Amino acid sequence: MKIGVLGTGVVGQAIGGKLVSLGHDVMMGARAADNEKVVGFAQRTGGKAGTFGDAIRHGELIINGTRGDGSVAAIRQGEQWLEGKTLIDISNPLDFSRGFPPSLSVSNTDSLGETIQREFPQARVVKSLHTVTAAIMIDPAKIAGNHTVFVSGNDAAAKGQAMDLLRSFGWQSIIDLGDITTARGTEQYVALWVRLLGALGTAEFNIAVLKAQ
Ligand SMILES: NC(=O)c1ccc[n+]([C@@H]2O[C@H](COP(=O)([O-])OP(=O)(O)OC[C@H]3O[C@@H](n4cnc5c(N)ncnc54)[C@H](OP(=O)(O)O)[C@@H]3O)[C@@H](O)[C@H]2O)c1
Repeated sequence: MKIGVLGTGVVGQAIGGKLVSLGHDVMMGARAADNEKVVGFAQRTGGKAGTFGDAIRHGELIINGTRGDGSVAAIRQGEQWLEGKTLIDISNPLDFSRGFPPSLSVSNTDSLGETIQREFPQARVVKSLHTVTAAIMIDPAKIAGNHTVFVSGNDAAAKGQAMDLLRSFGWQSIIDLGDITTARGTEQYVALWVRLLGALGTAEFNIAVLKAQ
């Protein structure tokens, strides 16, 4: 499948590389097409490099792995090519302006997932994977046991497409929380995630949601 990956950081590199290894036709986007990380991605993996707009035009499916406070601007670069496309949003609305731990720039009655869906109603936004570190996103088997990833979104078919992609990464426990407003809960979980990072001394952990028999 043709997939546009927005973001050249740890998340974009991990997701982009994994998708290329699974046989997808991937274009990674950055603000500038000559960004050394996007050029490096293409050289290393055989994927393609472009701007955010190029990557959105290229993809039948779009993945947002940009910094939370830049995500709307990044997606805006290709909004004319978003019509009807599933957009998997991995970004977190982290605000480091007061240091660590970060606060959330949007929370409680709103979320970044909802903001992106509101700004781009022509896209079918699915919030997912933002509750784990990049290495676990693409290789959940690094952690033993049936640990959980979540999906939130308004469009059932788009969530189905996202869940198929998650299964191809190895995810088995996927909870569909409901519409895009449910991203509030998973984005706010990230406040606990950063504290678990401190307590455990590693980013490679996840939670499992277990029901009584
Ligand atoms: N790191 C993780 O393991 C992890 C885990 C879960 C969720 N997340 C979330 O995933 C996202 C990506 O994280 P990351 O650590 O890979 O990288 P990051 O450093 O948070 O983001 C890098 C990307 O954001 C773009 N960007 C930065 N400022 C921008 C602006 N003002 N306008 C438009 N684009 C801008 C950069 O564009 P250029 O390429 O042009 O520089 C780059 O592609 C974040 O929202 C993060 O909270 C990260």
